[in-house]
Amino acid sequence: MDTIRLRDKEFSLFITEQEIREAITKMATRIKADIKESNPLFVSVLNGAFMFTAELMRELDGPYELTFARYSSYKGTSTSGEVKEIVPLQTDIRGRMVILLEDIIDTGLTMEFVMKKLLDEGAAEVRVATMLFKPEALKALLKPDYVGFEIPTDFIVGHGLDYDEMGRSYKDIYKLNE
Ligand code: IMP
Ligand code: MG
Repeated sequence: MDTIRLRDKEFSLFITEQEIREAITKMATRIKADIKESNPLFVSVLNGAFMFTAELMRELDGPYELTFARYSSYKGTSTSGEVKEIVPLQTDIRGRMVILLEDIIDTGLTMEFVMKKLLDEGAAEVRVATMLFKPEALKALLKPDYVGFEIPTDFIVGHGLDYDEMGRSYKDIYKLNE
């Protein structure tokens, strides 16, 4: 499909499933080389990262531990990066290397908050792997360690990402038509 409609908006094909798969394979190779024999805890940030998480973990194809957490950000109402923990981590992270798995980093305020929280809770180190990164939208002090694609500041959907909870299950990624 070249265009899709979600509620009142139209989106055009932006990144194909094939391109995403190639980027994730490369990312998995880098992560594997970096972590070697260590035992990181992968933390998938729901809901958006579910598809990316499954694909990355199966490329890693190893004995790795994976868990899930969920946060909500209040963008628009404030720029303070106020973030609420909806589903807290169920695993003891003290002394561990944590690798956060995110769908997209936009302002970065969510990830900045989560990284700080996990370090406060005793993580030895927190890294971030994100499928997509909008460098020009970044407002936080943060540099993602692993990035699938750097993209312009456009609104996108598909491959886990939603517009008003619609569109997460498309395999390709679509960009909002202005
Ligand atoms: P940040 O705190 O501004 O980096 O926002 C992170 C969250 O906002 C992501 O995890 C997404 O859930 C959501 N988000 C940011 N940009 C987009 C987009 O282009 N499409 C859909 N969701 C987005
Ligand atoms: Mg997200």
